[in-house]
Amino acid sequence: MIRYKNIRLRAVEEGDAGYYMKWINDPETNFYRGLYPPTSEAVAKAWVQEQMLQTSEKLTFAIEEMHDDAIAGLIGFIGLRGICSRSRRAEMWIYLGAKLRWGEGFGKDSLLTICQYAFSEMNLHRLWLECDPEHVASVRCYEKNGFVKEGTQREAYYRRGQFRDTIIMGLLKPDWEKTSNLK
Ligand SMILES: CC(C)(COP(=O)(O)OP(=O)(O)OC[C@H]1O[C@@H](n2cnc3c(N)ncnc32)[C@H](O)[C@@H]1OP(=O)(O)O)[C@@H](O)C(=O)NCCC(=O)NCCS
Repeated sequence: MIRYKNIRLRAVEEGDAGYYMKWINDPETNFYRGLYPPTSEAVAKAWVQEQMLQTSEKLTFAIEEMHDDAIAGLIGFIGLRGICSRSRRAEMWIYLGAKLRWGEGFGKDSLLTICQYAFSEMNLHRLWLECDPEHVASVRCYEKNGFVKEGTQREAYYRRGQFRDTIIMGLLKPDWEKTSNLK
């Protein structure tokens, strides 16, 4: 378990499937993530089972909100995928399904925590992600943690009748070490 301020990152557990099913079936939480068709309990359980299997190529954490030392509840998931041991890079993703908790700093703090883990514990050199530039909260969240825009993928995904651009953002360990309070 990894604790930082009011969040804790822990391993994904079987009991998380019900939360995942509720969140993934809410169009609002997936608005900037493309189309997610109605998801059954069985599919949600399979997704959770998949995340429980940590491999050399991926790592998923459940994000819990903490009040002092008490667990207030599961609020989302965060992870690394496509971990490349030779080039020491990974793609990062975050999904705060508990939308009542949006805008309270949990996204920013979860990102900071996984960046710290990726660079300091796993000794990765580069983290990157793809996002919709219109999703102001996510772009701001990434920028606050030192990610910079590296390029645009034109008309890379389809949302509500239109092809939309996505941006690639990246963060290198030396830049993280210069700017982060946590080292
Ligand atoms: C995107 C997401 C991770 C952001 O997390 P969050 O906890 O809501 O964001 P935070 O409260 O940490 O805010 C981070 C920054 O964004 C700003 N921000 C948050 N919501 C905002 C909004 N709606 N409009 C403008 N800025 C916003 C905050 O002010 C903060 O900046 P500041 O520190 O300069 O004040 C979260 O909302 C989420 O997971 N959404 C659903 C799934 C998703 O879209 N994932 C990302 C796919 S790329």
